[in-house]
Amino acid sequence: MQKNDVIIGLFDSGLGGITVWKEINNKLPQLSTIYLADSKNAPYGPKSKDEIITLCKKNIDFLLTKNVSSIVVACNTATTNAINELRTEYNLPIIGVEPAIKPAVLASKSKKIGVLATLATLQSEKYIEAKKSFPKVEFVEQAGHHLVQLIESGKLYSEELKKLLIQYVTPMRDAQVDHIVLGCTHYPFFKSILKEITDSSIQIIDSGAAIANRVHQILESNDLPTDSSTLFHKFYINKSSDVMKSLLKNDKVSIIEFDF
Ligand code: DGL
Repeated sequence: MQKNDVIIGLFDSGLGGITVWKEINNKLPQLSTIYLADSKNAPYGPKSKDEIITLCKKNIDFLLTKNVSSIVVACNTATTNAINELRTEYNLPIIGVEPAIKPAVLASKSKKIGVLATLATLQSEKYIEAKKSFPKVEFVEQAGHHLVQLIESGKLYSEELKKLLIQYVTPMRDAQVDHIVLGCTHYPFFKSILKEITDSSIQIIDSGAAIANRVHQILESNDLPTDSSTLFHKFYINKSSDVMKSLLKNDKVSIIEFDF
């Protein structure tokens, strides 16, 4: 690795940010990445804003020890609760992930949008402020209680998760939404299950591809290369890595369990 090589650092409360990492890696396959899964502290969704800010700072401090050149906060909960404070504190590009309500609204005919996100995201000032740009749109919101825990514990394809999803999307279907926004980076993992249990007329939207485009843009606007001279993908996790391994089984990455 050369001294000023471009390395993207990503973090999430756990495994959800892997959905963002996959989009970035698809778009920019020659870019080295370091991913931190703070699974020991997952979920962030029920935590207070102050707790989330403290955890985010700890995560960024760790990534900085690995010489990352930009940070992707691959977590809606962390972005909507902490990104302003993080950008004030740290002097490097910080890219966040927010629920994709704008593209959903622009594409919606019924102007009724379902939003599935964590409680902390739905209650954040940033999300509430974002909705104010669309006063005529009806947002049917649901906090995804327990979904992150099921994914973190490897129960993605369980009956329990499917039952919860049916419970969570039924009011959205009854309200005749034509788009459902997945406002948590863990949720794209169950996109295929969600498609099975909703009408084909409902579009399911997440933010992953938009974030990959944003990373590309930021690198270009800072005159940074999109190819790292030494290519690697390192995944750090502070809990058992079994589930992480299964989610990354087709990717060429190294996974490191460590105490953090
Ligand atoms: N992946 C996180 C997000 O995007 C999950 C939050 C949690 O840990 O509750 O919101």
